[in-house]
Amino acid sequence: MDTPIYDFLKGYAASGTVRCHMPGHKGRAPALGSELDITEISGADSLFEASGIIRESERGMSSLYGTADTFYSAGGSTLCIQAMLAAMKQEGRTVVAARNVHRAFLNAAALLGLDVKWVMPDYTDGILSGTLSLGDIKHALADTPNACVYLTSPDYTGRMADIRAVSAICRRYGAPLLADNAHGAHLRFMPTDCHPITLGADMCCDSAHKTLPALTGAAMLHTSSEHYAGVLRQCMSLFASTSPSYPIMASLDLCRRYAAEQIRADISLNLAEIDRLRRTFVERLSFADGDPFHITLRAAESGYDGCELAKLLREGGAECEYADSGIVILLMSPMNTREDYARLTEALENALHAAKRLAPHSDGIVLPLPRRVMSIRESVFSPSEEIPVAEAEGRICAAVKVPCPPAVPIAASGEVIDRECIEIYKRYGITTVNVVCR
Ligand SMILES: Cc1ncc(COP(=O)(O)O)c(C=O)c1O
Repeated sequence: MDTPIYDFLKGYAASGTVRCHMPGHKGRAPALGSELDITEISGADSLFEASGIIRESERGMSSLYGTADTFYSAGGSTLCIQAMLAAMKQEGRTVVAARNVHRAFLNAAALLGLDVKWVMPDYTDGILSGTLSLGDIKHALADTPNACVYLTSPDYTGRMADIRAVSAICRRYGAPLLADNAHGAHLRFMPTDCHPITLGADMCCDSAHKTLPALTGAAMLHTSSEHYAGVLRQCMSLFASTSPSYPIMASLDLCRRYAAEQIRADISLNLAEIDRLRRTFVERLSFADGDPFHITLRAAESGYDGCELAKLLREGGAECEYADSGIVILLMSPMNTREDYARLTEALENALHAAKRLAPHSDGIVLPLPRRVMSIRESVFSPSEEIPVAEAEGRICAAVKVPCPPAVPIAASGEVIDRECIEIYKRYGITTVNVVCR
């Protein structure tokens, strides 16, 4: 019988491609095979009532990250986002959120029936990334009693928000600060610790699987607050499978040892290599600023088509994390090696030789906040239909259907799809949308 998934994975592993994409283990984590895949037998503890080996490991992770508490997730950051937002729901808070959220946020908001007030970033790298105005956050909080703030930092391109400054504003208004740090599990171990909890966030999720040597699905929910430490596990259990994977939890346990013993040396090697790569290409390519492990090439601004560069890189043996016409994201991790960077440099050199030159242009996007006519929850749970984007003007967006990546909403659920949205859908190659039935 055909085994298309397994065959693809074996073929990819055998190809020796340089993995400039998640997961962060880059195919080099210790094997965690079926002999380690058990259930909650005696002595194995139980994630949602943890008091034994799982709790011991979580406490060790908490002390590594300097948190009040840390909880393991075998359901990725998605589960941690659901838990953070459920804790806000219990307190009846309105969520002030920077718009470039991952769709995991919107889905959780729909499930929980949350009220969201958007703060629009000034987009610079398509809909994935933009700068946030502290003034806008302050305004939103001044207008919204009993709020919390939700930020994605680093975002998909690696751009970091000024968490310290936002946290100071949040404290002034009594608003907890929640960070989607799915892309920043390694930040605690950078030469200067810039993890959201260190910088003042009350809670954050880290997808260990994105930038640490952990299996896909491995994530952590951190909090700096004793109060939220008391509620988050229960919130998580509302959404999680009752059979969390032991290999995933074991990979978090191994990550903890790696972070304690080895990660700083590996980060230092990688930072030197990333710096060398950027210096090699700086005359020919513009790079976005932010977390160094996200090497974001501004292709359009440098006179290239991002999708063509990604294809040429693939032909040269390097697979990127994400590409669109404007940008290419190479997501590296402390597990990348000197040899990876040598091969990536050669592949990029050849790609730039072979690629068609275009007039350099900026790929900024202007996306005015679409008009909201329904709550997120009501629109997601209304009867809906999938229609071509070209016919969607004036229709109400139901469940958000953007491919992952970018997974960032263009129109959010409950908003009216307008001409601007349609142009952006087309720009991302999105051909159909879910809309509420008339
Ligand atoms: C910014 C952001 N947040 C959250 C998630 C969801 O994380 P996970 O895949 O660990 O559930 C992703 C996934 O790509 C993401 O990019």
